[in-house]
Amino acid sequence: MVELKTPGEIERMRIAGAFVAEILAELREKAAVGVNLLELEMIVREKIRRRGAQSCYWGYAPSFGRGPFRNTVCLSVNDAVLHGLPFDYALCDGDVLTMDLALSIDGWVADAATTVIVGTPDPEDQRLVRATEEALASAIEAAQPGNRVGDISAAISAVARSHGYPVNTEFGGHGLGRTMHEDPHIANHGKPGRGFPLRPGLTIAVEPWFAKTTDRIVTDPDGWTIRSADGSRTAHSEHTIAITPDGPRILTVV
Ligand code: MF3
Ligand code: CO
Repeated sequence: MVELKTPGEIERMRIAGAFVAEILAELREKAAVGVNLLELEMIVREKIRRRGAQSCYWGYAPSFGRGPFRNTVCLSVNDAVLHGLPFDYALCDGDVLTMDLALSIDGWVADAATTVIVGTPDPEDQRLVRATEEALASAIEAAQPGNRVGDISAAISAVARSHGYPVNTEFGGHGLGRTMHEDPHIANHGKPGRGFPLRPGLTIAVEPWFAKTTDRIVTDPDGWTIRSADGSRTAHSEHTIAITPDGPRILTVV
């Protein structure tokens, strides 16, 4: 079921979105050579606690993971791309780190992800990260009222194709609001003009992620961390947006 949100409800998601964006911006600054992933997890945990917000991850036990999740942020390094379980690891020069965060404030959820390169970036990694950012921008541009979910999906895969990256369609974006994962599913590849109609009040997380040379994934023995099957590097960019009568509105910005 898809629940359309009122303008007032979207404003409440916007409050959660600003906090998600604030935390991700702080993590981008903190992520440096030698910093341990567990330090980043503790920063997020403490900020959520002080704000009186709720983590959407803590205790989450979806079918795609070995629940319950016992962290507040997903940290995925290099070939890891989704649902990375924070572990005792000090970041190295050139690491590609994706940070994915969802939380709620007063019952309203926001979800966003960003990828940062630690220390000296490899130009090919930079190209990959920028491709996911470009795909996210293009997907948001396609999220106009009157369009359909397939327009968003097609926009994402078109950018991937233009850069020569394959696209996995198992994990993608999703509706959200009262909970983190709601309908509709938003695959990262699809047909323009097809799928669920984008109506004002629809709130969705759009999340292009690419691996350099494969569309296949494997799950770690930890039961959560998803990696590219061939070990190639990955990147992921995500925003929560609302469809409004005036067009798409990004909710996960400061
Ligand atoms: N935020 C992720 C998403 O975009 C979900 C992570 S679920 C977790 O859909 F349990 F792994 F944290
Ligand atoms: Co998401």
